[in-house]
Formats: sequence, C-alpha cells, structure tokens
Amino acid sequence: MTDPVVLKVAVLASGTGTNLQALIDQVHGRDGVRIVAVGSDKPEALALERAQAAGIETALFPVSDFNGNRAARDGAMADWLRARGVQLVVLAGYMQILGPAFLDRFADQVINLHPALLPAFPGLDAVNQALAYGAKVFGVTVHFVDEGVDSGPVIMQRAVELPDARVLDDVLPHVHALEHQMLPEVVRLFARGAVRIASTHPRRVLVGPLAVLPER
Ligand code: GRF
Repeated sequence: MTDPVVLKVAVLASGTGTNLQALIDQVHGRDGVRIVAVGSDKPEALALERAQAAGIETALFPVSDFNGNRAARDGAMADWLRARGVQLVVLAGYMQILGPAFLDRFADQVINLHPALLPAFPGLDAVNQALAYGAKVFGVTVHFVDEGVDSGPVIMQRAVELPDARVLDDVLPHVHALEHQMLPEVVRLFARGAVRIASTHPRRVLVGPLAVLPER
C-alpha cells in the first residue's frame, strides 16, 4: 500500500509554543498533515519540549553557533528542513527575520502568524501598539513571509471587537483563541492544496474553493 499524500510541515518558534501545541493537537498526524521538524534559535524555548513530547525531531540554530552570521544560520536551517522534505514552514512566534538565504529556498512556502490586523501594527509588541493607538478592534493575521517585516500577502484575518480593552490581559486571551483556531485551519487548507497566490495579482491569496477555481 502506498502512503497517503501528506504535507510535511516544519515549525520555527522562539517561545512558549502554544501555537505549535495547537498544531500538534489539531492537525499533526491527520488531515494530510505531518509536523516533521521544529527549529528554534533559543535553547530555552518551551516549544522544543512540546515538540519532543510529541515525538517530533527538533534542532537549535542560535546565531552564536555561526559567529553571528545570520545568512549562514539561515542557510543551515534551510538545509536541515530540505533534508526532511519540508513543504511548508510555519513561523509561530519565531523572533528572527529570515533572509534570502532561507526564503529563496522556500518560495511561497513560509507563513507567519501576527497578532494584529496587518498592515496595522507590524513588528514587535503588536497588541501593545494597538492598545496605545486606542484601537477598538483587534485581531490576527496569517500571511506569507517575504523579506519585509510582516509585509507578505495575507492568507487569513480574523477580528475581535474589544472596545473597552485597556491592558494586554484584556486582549491576549482573545487573540490567542483566534490564533489557535486559525493556524490549524490554514495548515489544513495548505494540505488540501487550497491556498495559492493569484497569478494576476501578487498580493491576492486565493483560499478554499477559490484556489481551485479559475481566476476572475
Ligand atoms: C503569537 O502571539 C504570535 O502571534 C506571535 O508570537 C506569539 C507566539 O505565541 N508571532 P506562542 O509561542 O505560540 O505561544
């Protein structure tokens, strides 16, 4: 019997890895998805423990192991993932910018999760940026990664109205709940071949039935 077709996914994470955990719990080993590798730049990242507990191979790529040379680090990480047949790389709280040494090897195969409705509030501390701005609607964006900061084409966005939010704790539980729903959903869509960038418009991402229908 031949193996069913499975999308080989890698996750890069620098922190607690609750989004990795959502992927492990909701899609890993089913729905045509297998997480085959988890990489990090931080030895203390809880994400590594979560991966190991799920029997997923892990590796550390701190830039200090590469004499501070980020391109060399990115290249080594790309080699490691390619050797494992990775077809989709998910950045889930990965706190490093990926350069061309990585992105050129995974064209349109790297996605990121951002805790704001882009293009509002890119970069670090997005929820605090939104609070400081006085925003009344918060949200999450899943997008393709390009060489800019949170600037790639949008795959999915969801919003939550919180007009009375004042501090981080008023917002974070809502944002995390959205993230833990959206990321598994998006990865499942990739496994079904239901995500693609429109040939006529480099910023338009066709999702679900749209991705398999002729463009208009
Ligand atoms: C998430 O809020 C995500 O939006 C941001 O980093 C956080 C990672 O959280 N990019 P976790 O490590 O998955 O818990």
